[in-house]
Amino acid sequence: MTVIRGATTVAADKKEEIVNAVKELLEEVFLVNELQKDEVKGVVFSLTSDIHAYHPAKAARECGYDFAPLFAAVEPDIDGGLKFCIRLMLLTDLTKEKNVKHIYQKGAKTLRTDISEVFNVALDGPAGSGKSTIAKVLAKDYNILYLDTGAMYRACGLKALREGIDPKDGEAVEKMLPNLDVKVEYREGKQHTILDGEDVSLAIRVNEVSMAASTISAHPSVRIKMVEMQREIAGNMSCVLDGRDIGSTVLPNAKFKFFITADSKVRAERRYKELLERGQTVDFDTLHQEIVARDKQDSEREFSPLVCAKDAMVVDTTDMTVDEVIATIKKAIQTKI
Ligand code: DC
Repeated sequence: MTVIRGATTVAADKKEEIVNAVKELLEEVFLVNELQKDEVKGVVFSLTSDIHAYHPAKAARECGYDFAPLFAAVEPDIDGGLKFCIRLMLLTDLTKEKNVKHIYQKGAKTLRTDISEVFNVALDGPAGSGKSTIAKVLAKDYNILYLDTGAMYRACGLKALREGIDPKDGEAVEKMLPNLDVKVEYREGKQHTILDGEDVSLAIRVNEVSMAASTISAHPSVRIKMVEMQREIAGNMSCVLDGRDIGSTVLPNAKFKFFITADSKVRAERRYKELLERGQTVDFDTLHQEIVARDKQDSEREFSPLVCAKDAMVVDTTDMTVDEVIATIKKAIQTKI
């Protein structure tokens, strides 16, 4: 199925105005995409809450678009979002090969910059600051990819541990690199980290791999290899990337940059809960010390350290809920779209 999107605005919640605007929008969508009525399998409208949900659906029927199931719903309000906006989603059976054109009229703009341009969201910050939780929600809501760059360094760390190589030993790590095969694959939207052909997505989450990843990631040769892969992925499609140096080094031109931080105790508590949920028992104080040591190591390494990019927005999540963090970030993104 292929989806064609469109949107328009009206000056007020007036039936005649809405009927005319919907008609105009549908006409252009059909014309520009050379669409036939029998190619449309469903018509979905979503409206800002200042418009009566009944009007666009009624308008579409009155205009003769009664050949497919029709649905209209009110959108949650977004700070900084447009007023009196009608969004359209046509579900069609066009094949993917046909390049569809999305139509935006009367000042309406896409909330989904992913369908108009490739854009990246860089989320940097120390361990346990909540980056990955936030990144997953953003990626889902904006329908873009989530690239967990830490997983790639974890795979490098795991390889060293498995081969009995000390992650600190630059020479030994360098020798390991030509045989290091790290790949990122996506299944049902979920990232899988593949090391030498094996899916290590779970194996890299154990606590000892965290420190090995931090140590091994300090070697420039390792970073150069990983950063190249990250840039290749992010250059081709819109994604949210989380890591330590995304906004500063990997993608200095990322459209949206955030530095997510929190008090180290709070971060340790979050990691502690996460590990417990995965069935791993660790001592809290040891975990806290490890997090502090990892922050120090990640921030003090010479090559591409953990740093807040000059143009990143700092979000301290110490006293914030996940929903509050998401709302803050989305508001910031929204004002820049
Ligand atoms: O985000 P994480 O805890 O999964 O990352 C594991 C380690 O990998 C982290 O301590 C430092 C390193 N890392 C990095 O140096 N640069 C990144 N972009 C991501 C992670």
